Amino acid sequence: MYNFDEIINRKNTDSTKWDFNRDPAYVIPMPVADMDFRCPEPIIQALHEVAEHGIMGYSFVPDSLKDLFTERMKNLYGWSIQNEWQVWIPGLVPGITASYRAVGQAGDAVLTTLPVYAPFHLAPTWADKRLLTTQLVEIDGRWTFDFEALEQAITPDTKLFMLCNPYNPGGTVFRKDELARLVAICHKHGVVICSDEIHCDLILEENLQHIPTASISPEAADLTITLMAPSKTFNIAGLGCSVAIIANPALRQKFIQAKAGFFPELNRFGIQAAYAAYKDCEPWRKALVAYLKENHDILYEAINGMKGLKMNKLEATYLAWIDARATGVQDIAQVLLENGVRIVDGKVFQGEGFFRVNFACPRATLLEGIARMKKAFA
Ligand SMILES: Cc1ncc(COP(=O)(O)O)c(C=O)c1O
Repeated sequence: MYNFDEIINRKNTDSTKWDFNRDPAYVIPMPVADMDFRCPEPIIQALHEVAEHGIMGYSFVPDSLKDLFTERMKNLYGWSIQNEWQVWIPGLVPGITASYRAVGQAGDAVLTTLPVYAPFHLAPTWADKRLLTTQLVEIDGRWTFDFEALEQAITPDTKLFMLCNPYNPGGTVFRKDELARLVAICHKHGVVICSDEIHCDLILEENLQHIPTASISPEAADLTITLMAPSKTFNIAGLGCSVAIIANPALRQKFIQAKAGFFPELNRFGIQAAYAAYKDCEPWRKALVAYLKENHDILYEAINGMKGLKMNKLEATYLAWIDARATGVQDIAQVLLENGVRIVDGKVFQGEGFFRVNFACPRATLLEGIARMKKAFA
């Protein structure tokens, strides 16, 4: 019904993934997190309608989108939210920076875990904050928190914990008991949680469910800023349409104040795409997740068959996190590039010796990418 095998040429479209690095034509790009799949037809139809109307003036987020989002949270995650908790924003990264600005005073600390999606560790300097970090630990092939180390890392001036749930890179879907323990620590120390849940709709393990951090208890709801978007799920990252969900009115007000004057209002393309995505694209999303899971399993088998490489099973996301420390290769990204694949070096996430592979591409592209990796590490 949906053809995820279709190869669509993205060269010369000003694509960050395909054009920005000016790689030679034969290079397969598997870095930045967007997908090489055509987005679902209802979204394309909605965008046509906006373009055909032909007027590109200012827009605001209508109640119809807020209602739909509220309903979606209930249906997908059993999370009861209210429309007024929603603050629509043009991207998650700006939402992260606004959260860093909103909480605490200049010079206060933000704590996060490493390795992590780069803006988490870069944004403190954009928001006059200090960065504190603690390492994730690998237990039984799964990345999770070292709760004792995490609590010890909290200083009196730590006002925010930056969480990625599901986790990028590494794909962990945090369980209720893990979130409860994290919330208890943050509550005890008066720390707000910013929970980036952009990958929540891309759970690969059938027996797992995404749990919004804020949904687990009234305390959690009170101290959490949740960030979500249709962008990763429906491949509309270029349209700038995301949402912060903040139950606590004082915290919401601080967030709104922190973004004032910096953020443009959303544009009608993004709004209508988000509406179509949430309203009409669930069958597409389910088919996508099944295809991604097959890609995941193929990559998992192949990587673990290559000498010196190790990949844990991902619970979520289309971003494999591969341990190459045993290969002894110094410049992993360069070696792979010379063999015709662009990946993201783990250093970007402060995860030295690892690399990240985006496998949201047609099967044939993935298989060719794998063949090149094999050659690179032979
Ligand atoms: C965890 C996480 N947050 C945020 C983003 C990007 O969000 P946005 O494009 O809305 O700024 C990404 C993209 O890869 C991501 O992985």
